[in-house]
Amino acid sequence: MHFLIPAAGSGSRMKAGKNKLLIDLEGESLIYWTLKSVFSASSINWVGIIGQPKDKELLLNSAKEFADIVHWINGGETRQQSVFNGLKELPKDAEKVLIHDGARCLINPELIDQCAKQLDENTAVILATKVTDTIKIVDNEGFIKETPDRNYLWAAQTPQGFLVDRLKKAHSMAIDKNWNVTDDASLFEMLDWKVKIIEGTYSNIKITSPLDLKIAKLFVKKP
Ligand code: CTP
Ligand code: MG
Repeated sequence: MHFLIPAAGSGSRMKAGKNKLLIDLEGESLIYWTLKSVFSASSINWVGIIGQPKDKELLLNSAKEFADIVHWINGGETRQQSVFNGLKELPKDAEKVLIHDGARCLINPELIDQCAKQLDENTAVILATKVTDTIKIVDNEGFIKETPDRNYLWAAQTPQGFLVDRLKKAHSMAIDKNWNVTDDASLFEMLDWKVKIIEGTYSNIKITSPLDLKIAKLFVKKP
């Protein structure tokens, strides 16, 4: 199974003045923890990290243990472009791929393997959790328009897994049609292609703001 890690963001909401994946969490960088988990998953045998060229040395140096076994790919201006770059750099024989945000550094290796396994029976799968808040759809003036039934609401996470040829096709169509999305499953939805939900865990947070770092401290597993 092939694995791509988008890591080419700037971390603007973290306000750390650098790519948030370089931030320290219990003595190691966020990208280290992500890679550690990925390389602990038994189903994964090829890993690509997609980053900005200016971050290449910093990211690889902060996770030295994995520097020689990951494949470096230059990222783009948006997450969508970064993933597209990653897809183009997969080996020609790659049939299936899991895409996983570098910023979800608490991912459990067993959940990675579960996503990989579910791709035997599905063309697309994503990890997600049931939403516990009541969600409001709000208009531009700040007034509530609608409250969707919570029974149908799931919060999307990564990994998200796909058959490579399908995901490549979806990304190419997105470029043609100027679709802009924040996750890969959205492209499948726009094309009316099925995406299977796999129930994940609430601890698989995306480290986005300084508060998330405090939460992550509680969950990170030191060697
Ligand atoms: N990402 C990427 N290429 C981009 C933008 C984001 O590969 N051009 C990656 C990030 O590195 C991250 C993941 O996509 O691992 C999810 O994005 P997000 O959490 O939004 O990270 P940032 O874009 O870095 O943060 P922010 O939006 O706060 O600037
Ligand atoms: Mg972002």
